[in-house]
Amino acid sequence: MFTYHLRPGGTLRGNLRVPGDKSISHRSIMLGSLADGVTRVSGFLEGEDSLATLNAFRAMGVEIEGPDQGQVVIHGVGMHGLKTPNGPLDLGNSGTSMRLLAGLLAGQGLDLVLSGDASLSGRPMCRVTDPLALMGARVEATQAGTAPLHIRPVSGLKAIDYALPVASAQVKSCVLLAGLYAQGETCVTEPAPTRDHTERMLQGFGYEVKKEGSRICVQGGGRLAACDIDVPADISSAAFFLVGASIAPGSDLVLEHVGMNPTRDGIITILRLMGADIEVRNQRNVGGEPVADLRVRHAPLKGIRIPEEQVPLAIDEFPALFVAAACAEGETVLTGAEELRVKESDRIQVMADGLQALGVDARPTPDGMVIRGGRLHGGEVDSHGDHRIAMSLAMAALRSDGDIRISDCANVNTSFPDFVGTAARAGLDIGVAHE
Ligand code: S3P
Repeated sequence: MFTYHLRPGGTLRGNLRVPGDKSISHRSIMLGSLADGVTRVSGFLEGEDSLATLNAFRAMGVEIEGPDQGQVVIHGVGMHGLKTPNGPLDLGNSGTSMRLLAGLLAGQGLDLVLSGDASLSGRPMCRVTDPLALMGARVEATQAGTAPLHIRPVSGLKAIDYALPVASAQVKSCVLLAGLYAQGETCVTEPAPTRDHTERMLQGFGYEVKKEGSRICVQGGGRLAACDIDVPADISSAAFFLVGASIAPGSDLVLEHVGMNPTRDGIITILRLMGADIEVRNQRNVGGEPVADLRVRHAPLKGIRIPEEQVPLAIDEFPALFVAAACAEGETVLTGAEELRVKESDRIQVMADGLQALGVDARPTPDGMVIRGGRLHGGEVDSHGDHRIAMSLAMAALRSDGDIRISDCANVNTSFPDFVGTAARAGLDIGVAHE
């Protein structure tokens, strides 16, 4: 068990580059492995989640060099070159690995099991097994609709035209990746825009993706051509520092080379609505993804009603945004975010508990939270093994008037290796203990 110890106060200053984007890192391994030729990735996230994907493809016979300081070289085996692994593929804490692999592997004629840790084994999987069953796949979950998933060989998949019941990029990607192996054209319609890295990267690998409004289609039976991928810094990891610098008086921080995909930038929109001072500099395009440097300075924040259409565009950033709301003047209201209850933890309940332990008026609702900003005192909080809860509550110390101890923080390594070192260099007074 890792526990974070934080001393109150501090400012965040300087320049830093947070680790590579998790979503893009996963997809680079998946598509690179299925491509013809050698794919070179730089900026790869060496966190446990993306390494779980990397190790899964190694276990299916793909030769992968690295990672070495973010460099990965993938020797693609082609669309039908994967081999049956020797045992279950252990995907640890990673929902993206499990849901995308379920689709990607459903039509490959392999017989294998996808498993995960206790958190992942409690998360809903019917959202992927249902559409895959419609395609003729045999991907079996437990009675409770959870992992482990047993993928059994089938003779082929048929294309479907699927309306997503939830705004989920993981489900969308699962169906599209299965669609690469289906006969005919597979289409997915989203109820709201969600991150589109799969679509962008498929096109980067030369695979045609048709998009008309909210409907996205791929034709089965094509091939992927290897390419080079430069993974930008993860805006979801930058989010802790955007919030930290906004709430800590005297802060002035530049976050470099941050991915600014418009399906991911809800954190900036929402923080700006709250009054944050975020300057977007040097906007550029890197391998099909927009990238920029972000300068963030302290600014007084005010409570807002968060626009519901921003929810899928900031879905991973709400733990950090709740801390911003706790430091804002007035009330912040979030609705339409029931998906937060089925993330790595129940992020509505766990954050409400954490903020209440620090003296904040935080009231959970079935689909969101109502937070009244005010003073934060020190206290003991539990991250419930959820990386984003741990990092968000760490930022709260910048405005607390006592020490904060956060337990169960080991899973920060799933998305942000050396968070403690990076945060300390920026100005957070953070230490870590094995307890
Ligand atoms: C992800 C999609 C999101 C997000 C997760 C990563 C992805 O999940 O929460 O951290 O890489 O596709 P949902 O699609 O379930 O919302």
